[in-house]
Amino acid sequence: MNGARRPVILDCDPGLDDAVAILLACASPALEVRGITVVAGNQTLPKVLDNCLRLLSYAGLGQVPVAAGCAAPLLRPLRVAAEVHGESGLGGAQLPPTDLQPQPRHAVDFIAELLRTSVEPVTLIPTAPMTNIALLLQLHPELKPHIREIVFMGGAAGAGNVTPSAEFNAYTDPEALRIVLRSGLPITMVGLDVTHRALVTRAQRERIRGLGGRIAALVADLLDFYDVHGRARHGEGAPLHDPVAVAQVIQPGIVATRPAVVDVECHGELTVGRTVVDFHGVTGLAANVQVGVDVQAEQFIELVVEALRQYP
Ligand code: BDR
Ligand code: CA
Repeated sequence: MNGARRPVILDCDPGLDDAVAILLACASPALEVRGITVVAGNQTLPKVLDNCLRLLSYAGLGQVPVAAGCAAPLLRPLRVAAEVHGESGLGGAQLPPTDLQPQPRHAVDFIAELLRTSVEPVTLIPTAPMTNIALLLQLHPELKPHIREIVFMGGAAGAGNVTPSAEFNAYTDPEALRIVLRSGLPITMVGLDVTHRALVTRAQRERIRGLGGRIAALVADLLDFYDVHGRARHGEGAPLHDPVAVAQVIQPGIVATRPAVVDVECHGELTVGRTVVDFHGVTGLAANVQVGVDVQAEQFIELVVEALRQYP
């Protein structure tokens, strides 16, 4: 442990890009990953938990504690993203089974304990539907001072990716996202406006594969799978969403942000899950979110490559 490292908790649904986000965070000398929690999203809870444990085991990260959280959104049925992440949630990757076990308690209890016992406030990095984090804030409002900030991947000021209006994480559990957005905590939103500028090209995937080692090979394979879906929409490469939120915590400023009022639509006929971003102050309310508007894409890829070099 190094006192200069910033303590973080990842809340995720691995998930191809979540897997890369985990590898990036755990390799960073700037971060101390105190725990990883999983939530139903890209796939069902048992699948994302299994993916997380297998990944950590395969990467030699078995010391990082993992806890399983909510199996469904707060109010809605779960809608997984098998068309993007595959039936397993990790594309075509065949990671060996592991003996690693999750914490014997719910993710919300686990995060609450980590926050309560931390000497310094902890940064939360949610890269999945906000179900676990919303529940945490509802059950333990007294722990808000223990949260330094929330830097999340989700939402969009512009077009969505799961409907024309909505981004997947926001769409999956908008009620949970609304609780978080209205929490009064410092929040940075790394949405599609940013992540669609962080496309990983074929050449970059080959560079990663060329690093050698099984983790680089795994990531290159995950990105190949992701690309099949991404290229149909983006032409060249696939957006690597979740690691961009981690990168913003490792290197604040790699994502350029603007303050704005942000809320999320929970009832719209065509717009449910849309994050409504008031850049022009028309609501007259005080800004509650730093909204990501751009990313230094080349630096971001370098961060990912450097992180992957750390694995044998
Ligand atoms: C987000 O949705 C999920 O499919 C990805 O893992 C990412 O968190 C992108 O919209
Ligand atoms: Ca995710």
